[in-house]
Amino acid sequence: MADLKSEITRRRTFAIISHPDAGKTTLTEKFLLYGGAISLAGAVKGKKSARHAVSDWMEIEKQRGISVTSSVMQFNYEGFCINILDTPGHQDFSEDTYRTLMAADSAVMVIDASKGVENQTRKLFKVCLLRDIPIFTFINKMDREARDPFDLMEEIENELGIRTCPVNWPIGCGKEFKGVYDRRKGEILAFQANSEQANGQKAVKAIEMELDDENLDDLIGSAHREKLAEDIELLDGAGDDLDLEQVRHGKLSPVFFGSALTNFGVEPFLEEFLRMTTPPLPRKSEDGEVDPFDTDFSAFVFKIQANMNKAHRDRIAFMRICSGKFEKGMEVLHVQGNKKMKLLQPQQLMAQDREIISEAYAGDIIGVFDPGIFSIGDTICAPKRKIKFEGIPTFAPEHFNLVHQVDTMKRKQFVKGMTQIAQEGAIQIFQELGGGMEDVIVGVVGTLQFDVLEYRLKNEYNVDIRMEGLPYQYIRWIENEDLDPKKLNLTSDTKRIQDLKGNRLLLFTSEWNITWALEHNPELRLAEFSRN
Ligand code: G4P
Repeated sequence: MADLKSEITRRRTFAIISHPDAGKTTLTEKFLLYGGAISLAGAVKGKKSARHAVSDWMEIEKQRGISVTSSVMQFNYEGFCINILDTPGHQDFSEDTYRTLMAADSAVMVIDASKGVENQTRKLFKVCLLRDIPIFTFINKMDREARDPFDLMEEIENELGIRTCPVNWPIGCGKEFKGVYDRRKGEILAFQANSEQANGQKAVKAIEMELDDENLDDLIGSAHREKLAEDIELLDGAGDDLDLEQVRHGKLSPVFFGSALTNFGVEPFLEEFLRMTTPPLPRKSEDGEVDPFDTDFSAFVFKIQANMNKAHRDRIAFMRICSGKFEKGMEVLHVQGNKKMKLLQPQQLMAQDREIISEAYAGDIIGVFDPGIFSIGDTICAPKRKIKFEGIPTFAPEHFNLVHQVDTMKRKQFVKGMTQIAQEGAIQIFQELGGGMEDVIVGVVGTLQFDVLEYRLKNEYNVDIRMEGLPYQYIRWIENEDLDPKKLNLTSDTKRIQDLKGNRLLLFTSEWNITWALEHNPELRLAEFSRN
């Protein structure tokens, strides 16, 4: 018992979010270096090769391979056991990216100091807000020309709707980057370009110095000293206090400035992050909250990854442990299937290597062999205590294609392939209201999924398809249960559809049409995501 409690207490599980190129991989790599999990920078992924938008399967496989191997990383640091969940951000941006956030207890948002808030950060951020999880901001690349830090903070506040509190404050940027001022400790952390920092050694020493110390001029120059004193006065006077309660409810984001590439400000960030975050918190189930320290094991599936190897058509289901301890070979109940089972080949993924594990605790992520029985959102728990976690929302796809089957004789394979791939959560399928599976509307979050769909149907199910782009950009679930969609007053380019579970939805070509629909049908309630 003491073991269970201390193991769970030392766990921290967070997701890293960013727009591509902001420095997520570099930062992750530095974290891993601190944890001793990797010994060389550059080990996390073969970066450049993964960047090109190609529909070639080998490339897709490579990309997917990368997102599998680096999707969950665990390392130990100063007594903590840290799980980092990577959110795929490049061309394979998909629902998986969103779902990963469902399994995290907090998020680290990496922002490029020269660019500020970018599109994908915005999208991911919305999902964080949905869950009220703490969000920490790392403003990266201060060793390059950067935007004014006050502007960056204002942009985060205005664009993302979260208040900010800088934990440290930059002194200059680019060639003139002198370091950061730690507001809590009242210390300067000096930046020394071209030192040994990049390899993970702690070459930078924090120098404790009052802001009015004359010797500070020697360290950062008088102009920087004066500017810093002004900035700090402004922040102390007008900025938000670092209220941990607000941080823990995702209302206030602690902001850190640094440079991941030169390994500057990364360790202080990690330390403050660990100080401010909590161990796994209770998770909502249909019968109330489940305490992570509960001795009974429970978990939910948040991601399913198909095996890309043709010879092994199995899948891996990733689950987040919500309570208790997992032991290899233990008997569990798959609640949705109402079946007792043993979880096969539990694995944990560390950088490039998969490792079979024998135990894991609340807060951890495990990947288990899935013979095709799990769906996203399913609960797995100790058989003696049946619980059901709240479902994972289905996020609104943004791209839509009409999919025709080329050879109608292969209807069975077509339906099987489409439904299995949809079950994995890579695509969403819709039909005309009251329609069948003749022509299917497929919705995806990232367009790469269309290529994946076409390739997989051909290679795994031997089915050829033809796809036709549709002009829709927005999808909304109709929340009113007793409303007949046919009776709605809609613009002629709005389409009424249903999903496989019978939920009714509307497809719109513009935001303007959504407003029109709501104005002309006062009773209509629309949702951007569905919980069932
Ligand atoms: P991502 O995972 O968010 O997509 O970003 P990634 O870490 O791959 O970083 C994107 C590029 O930005 C990389 O350069 C990386 O070296 C660089 N970078 C990351 N952090 C910093 C920083 O603090 N300062 C500076 N100056 N650059 C930074 P690249 O040339 O695109 O790739 P590579 O050849 O270095 O791998």
